[in-house]
Amino acid sequence: MKEIHFAGGCFWGVQHFFSQVDGVIEATCGYANGDKNNPTYEEVYTDTTGFAETVRVEYDPSRVSLEELTELFFTIIDPLSMNRQGHDEGTRYRTGIYYTNPIKRPILEEVYARVKDKLGAPLAVELEPLRNFFPAEERHQDYLSKNPEGYCHLSPKTFRYLRLYQDIKLYLGDEPDTIARMADTAALLSERMHFFWTGFYRADGETLVLGPFQGPSACMRIGFGKGVCGTAWEQKRTQVVPDVELFPGHIACSSASKSEIVVPIIKNNEVTAVLDIDSDEKDSFDQTDAIWLEKIAGLI
Ligand code: SME
Repeated sequence: MKEIHFAGGCFWGVQHFFSQVDGVIEATCGYANGDKNNPTYEEVYTDTTGFAETVRVEYDPSRVSLEELTELFFTIIDPLSMNRQGHDEGTRYRTGIYYTNPIKRPILEEVYARVKDKLGAPLAVELEPLRNFFPAEERHQDYLSKNPEGYCHLSPKTFRYLRLYQDIKLYLGDEPDTIARMADTAALLSERMHFFWTGFYRADGETLVLGPFQGPSACMRIGFGKGVCGTAWEQKRTQVVPDVELFPGHIACSSASKSEIVVPIIKNNEVTAVLDIDSDEKDSFDQTDAIWLEKIAGLI
């Protein structure tokens, strides 16, 4: 068994998240890298003890890698926000990755650098050796399992996506056929998230061609740079469209579609396909959808 420590704002939500990650044996709320022994919640709360609310994640490295855990950690934090996550503010809510084995640092640095490059800005996330860790009081352990209606700075959608992402990963296994992988991914996404239209377009020369999907019949070819899909292809970036009528050049395959998200699937710096999801309501997609759909698209 191995361990890594993540500070990601209020530890209730962070613990609830990691305790549901496949391969995690135990997630424990506690206080890390502060200036005294056995601090209480009340002491840490004063923000004068140097501690960060932190979750110790003990995992089985044959089931989940440190790289995967660290990538998952970055899906639940705002890495640019200094001493603030969600509504929680203070140095105790700073973000950090604390390791007990320095040999692991290069793996952490690699993920860190990828996130930094993507965001194009310095991260507010600490990357340091663990100096100390004290488990929090019993009432803070598994708080959200004991109090399902309790405060959580992470959205319920985050937990739905985590379960879905893990299920899709397991389901696809090592099937080598891309179309088959797309077909079951579209089915699982549609079944679990109830989107209006969920599907793939594959790059084929100068156009995108319709691939496996769930939902009403759709346009079969979309040009490079055309519509939301062609724009995601051209810009190699996820497009979140809160109102399709306001997106210049949007292609209306169905008049019932009101908002949309398109995620490019990139291999060797080339877009090979896009994942396109439509909703019949405006404003259906946000950053949480973008982060998780990018992870799911990465499984293809
Ligand atoms: N609206 C997309 C076309 C595909 S359908 O949404 C299924 C676009 O503008 O690219």
